[in-house]
Amino acid sequence: PDAPRINPSILAADFVNMQSELARIASADFVHVDVMDNHFVPNLTFGPQMVERIQATSPVPLDVHLMIDDPDRWAPGYAELGAASVTFHLEAAAEPVALARRLREIGARAGVAVKPGTEVDGLLEHLHEFDQILVMTVEPGFGGQGFMPETMPKLRRLADETRRRGADVWLQVDGGIAAGTIAQAAEAGADTFVAGSAVFGADDIDGAIAGLRSLAAH
Ligand code: DX5
Ligand code: ZN
Repeated sequence: PDAPRINPSILAADFVNMQSELARIASADFVHVDVMDNHFVPNLTFGPQMVERIQATSPVPLDVHLMIDDPDRWAPGYAELGAASVTFHLEAAAEPVALARRLREIGARAGVAVKPGTEVDGLLEHLHEFDQILVMTVEPGFGGQGFMPETMPKLRRLADETRRRGADVWLQVDGGIAAGTIAQAAEAGADTFVAGSAVFGADDIDGAIAGLRSLAAH
């Protein structure tokens, strides 16, 4: 799908009614699937068995965000079950470039995520090894937190370097993305937007997705 891409996060969905929740976001570009292990972040969601069912049920492709320790061991399994993209955290990976190559070999888009306090200097020379970079705009772990504008210079730097190097990398933001914050992330260079509460908290979900898309396009 063309940018700007809107990826609703099912962290804000009703887990007991996942099939109907997935049907409600059919006009989105991807469904953002937050996997948390209670070690890398202080919260727990679900693992491969649930994600496999989401893959079988979702009307849109899966954008899996792994907030887990030891992604070198676990991330390939999510690519194997058919996720369109698999994003692991830079802070948790032992061999990020080797892992990204493995994900691509399996057929997934390879993504790397950074927490608000993590610098990206080490990534710049490896930009071509990744299909997407996720700049966390909150501390990972929970939905409904406030957007951190202090992460925007890092995003701007990634956008500049991506352009300068002619790399084909999607720049994603996740956390606190809503009508009041999405334009500044777009202006700083993001082209892919994760939104949990701003989508699932809306009465008119299609309207919320379309509204975010148009705010990001300006
Ligand atoms: C937070 C998750 C996000 C979360 C965003 O750690 O990675 O995907 O669902 O939720 P909102 O959009 O409510 O900040
Ligand atoms: Zn996420």
